[in-house]
Amino acid sequence: MATLRRAGDPALVTDPDIIAGLLAPLGVLLEKLPVPATDSSRSLLAQAELSSNDQEKLLETLDAVFRRLQSEKGYQDRDLVVLYPGHPQLEALNARFHRIHTHDDEEVRYIVDGEGVFGFVLPDAQQVELTVVAGDYIHVPADVEHWFRLNQLQRIKAVRYFSARGGWTPHYTERPLQSFHDL
Ligand SMILES: [Fe+2]
Repeated sequence: MATLRRAGDPALVTDPDIIAGLLAPLGVLLEKLPVPATDSSRSLLAQAELSSNDQEKLLETLDAVFRRLQSEKGYQDRDLVVLYPGHPQLEALNARFHRIHTHDDEEVRYIVDGEGVFGFVLPDAQQVELTVVAGDYIHVPADVEHWFRLNQLQRIKAVRYFSARGGWTPHYTERPLQSFHDL
């Protein structure tokens, strides 16, 4: 279940209704979508690294979700992000996305293993960080200021759903990050 912290405040917000209420003015949607548990998906999810063959196999176990999103929201394609301790691009990815940015397209992620942290700027300029875990599906609309980082687990598997438009180049807003108490 996703949890949230406000900048400068160690208190952890766990109530899904409070979290949804804080994110609603931004249009950010968070849904619970239990990860299908089959023998094959369990063993693939348990591995930190996955070959491209195994990534495709894992995506196939999640195809019912993709087909539903295709018909409801028109997503054209999906792929899998797999990050783990020692991944050669961890630092580069952190430098690219742990800065406040927007995209021309929506950012849609379904977390199926591990954890990640999305940050947002609320309408009153207060910043919050949302830790998403396996079974969380998040939709960040285009042009919403946000950032993303891994937590100390440094491990995540997340499906990215694409519309036909593409448009994930980060546009940095140069707004400074406030400081957060980490888990
Ligand atoms: Fe982003």
